[in-house]
Amino acid sequence: MIVKQPKEYKVGINEIRQVTSLLKNRYDFDFTEYAVSSLQRRIIRVLGLYNLDGIDDLLKKMILEKEFHNTFIEEITVNTTEMFRAPSMWKSLRENIFEKLKTKSRIRIWHAGCSSGEEVYSMTILLKEMEIYDKVTLYATDLNTQVIESAKKGVYPIRNMELNEANYQRYGGKENFSDYYSVSGHTAKMDQSLLSNVRFLVHNLAQDDSFLKFDLILCRNVMIYFDKVLQDNVFKLFHKSLNNHAYFVIGSKESMIWCSINNKFKIIDDKEKIYQVLV
Ligand SMILES: C[S@@+](CC[C@H](N)C(=O)[O-])C[C@H]1O[C@@H](n2cnc3c(N)ncnc32)[C@H](O)[C@@H]1O
Repeated sequence: MIVKQPKEYKVGINEIRQVTSLLKNRYDFDFTEYAVSSLQRRIIRVLGLYNLDGIDDLLKKMILEKEFHNTFIEEITVNTTEMFRAPSMWKSLRENIFEKLKTKSRIRIWHAGCSSGEEVYSMTILLKEMEIYDKVTLYATDLNTQVIESAKKGVYPIRNMELNEANYQRYGGKENFSDYYSVSGHTAKMDQSLLSNVRFLVHNLAQDDSFLKFDLILCRNVMIYFDKVLQDNVFKLFHKSLNNHAYFVIGSKESMIWCSINNKFKIIDDKEKIYQVLV
């Protein structure tokens, strides 16, 4: 039997630049300020997945096959997510942030880089259980149209629900978690009434501007894929989009210590990466 050896791909900075230039010039998607190491890993993965000979083959495929650039973008943007991801952050949000925000008559929240929606469903469950959902409007955005469509549908593999439920328990959820979805075959469909105050939009943090003012913005596990210049610009975009004294949450492996506007935020919960705008 002949065992096929996996191809060894050479993807250096020049090859990465060829790919990002094509995406920018031909399709208006700007990945030029994404972290090189992550782009390199993801491009190599795509080359193997589609059994391509190398970068030239990939560029040709992106030019000749009309929809392939969308598939490629889906492959290089990491969409992994889960409900109540980092349960202690959700607990802190409930106890330290919403206990204060709930006195407001209207609350506006932005989930930037919401992926397939698990973070949004978690938030709406938290708000319902605190009995403040009716006065909240949530905006959930991502650059990837495909994940936005999945988020709207709220249909997830049933095997994911075990982890989602474990996170919900660790967060200290009050209800029977399975009441929030219905099961059909191997899938779970989230109760669509959870989305009554949610607006889904396509928004690219690398290219699009601020669109409203918010009381809370969550952008977790997204900026980790950006280089420092882009991260700094996106921090400015969020600052511009936050009301005075509003709150801001990033992912556990992300940091804003070094960013040029970090003096405009104070730390509310250092471990959970929750910040507040100073003025
Ligand atoms: C790892 S997921 C994070 C999902 C969720 N926030 C969480 O923490 O579980 C990263 C998401 O960021 C999105 N993303 C990547 N670059 C983006 C950009 N420039 N603008 C908006 N979303 C972006 C990806 O499409 C992906 O859905």
